[in-house]
Amino acid sequence: MAKESTEYREHWGREGFAGTGVNVTRTHHSPDYISVTGPHAPHRLNVGAVALPERDDAEALPVAFHAGRTGVQLSVSGRAHAMPFVLSNVEADEVHFVQEGELEFRTAYGTLTGTPGDFVVIPRGIPYRVRPMAGSSLSVIVETPGALRFDPSPTFGSGLRRAVIGEDEARDVETVLLLKSFDGVTRYVKPTNPLATQALLDGPSPVWKLNLRDVPTDDNGPPVQFIASPGRDELFYNLSARHRRRPPIHNNVDYDELIFYFEGPGAWGGVDEPGMLTCVPKGVIHHGPSEDVPEGYYAWMLESRCTLRLTDAGAAAAELMETDLYGPHATTEGFR
Ligand SMILES: [Fe+2]
Repeated sequence: MAKESTEYREHWGREGFAGTGVNVTRTHHSPDYISVTGPHAPHRLNVGAVALPERDDAEALPVAFHAGRTGVQLSVSGRAHAMPFVLSNVEADEVHFVQEGELEFRTAYGTLTGTPGDFVVIPRGIPYRVRPMAGSSLSVIVETPGALRFDPSPTFGSGLRRAVIGEDEARDVETVLLLKSFDGVTRYVKPTNPLATQALLDGPSPVWKLNLRDVPTDDNGPPVQFIASPGRDELFYNLSARHRRRPPIHNNVDYDELIFYFEGPGAWGGVDEPGMLTCVPKGVIHHGPSEDVPEGYYAWMLESRCTLRLTDAGAAAAELMETDLYGPHATTEGFR
């Protein structure tokens, strides 16, 4: 438990970094807790620790580890073989963050390659096929019911790259098309290949990517946002190392805060494993490590207005987290 001061400054705030709030001082460190029982508990998990059938079975799909009532869902993919089908998510936009490996995303609206640190955005209803280009891979998929847009704040010259129509796919190939909805997968057998595209006629491809390293950090303000959904329901930020005083103890009452540590070399407080995701549910007072780490590290944050819960697969890989430096909590009693 933190004992560095007898006066703690604390912030209660609305709308994440964008709303109103109030500051108080207390003589106790309010993020500390002795134990917790129930679902609304801070936790962490390394996405690489989730059991992934895709490693051995090309027909398998990614495994969800967080899900919420509005349809927001986070999954982990460990694809080791090309998809033997084409997939289209009819409920949500998808952001694929590539942690390890090199993946070809071939879609009906162009092709691009995802490499470590890339956010690959595939909107709703876009048929696509993923193929690992070199060995195994690891990626995190964020699904949002609202249409995601590149929405930098503060603005920066984007390193955004659109999918391009490349070499045409063979047209006359019988193809399995899976439509993914809230209640499972519907399997179509098509006489031709949905990915065979002659030309893109109007406007840019709706499929694009951006690398985390191309999102700047700002030493003076809140973290830099780069993707948003309607109503600011889901927001993506760069949360990498920067020269700034430690954030105050705070209560983010409108958003769950999920922070994903991509790579070092520096440790971010109690987090030093690539692929580690920390989650502080909304309304849980917390502190969080300093971002001023001279050795540097890369991390990103998802703010989710939808309250997220661990799935059974997520809970099997998760541990309770303390809310000071985001290390493991001393007890796991009552967590699952
Ligand atoms: Fe926070």
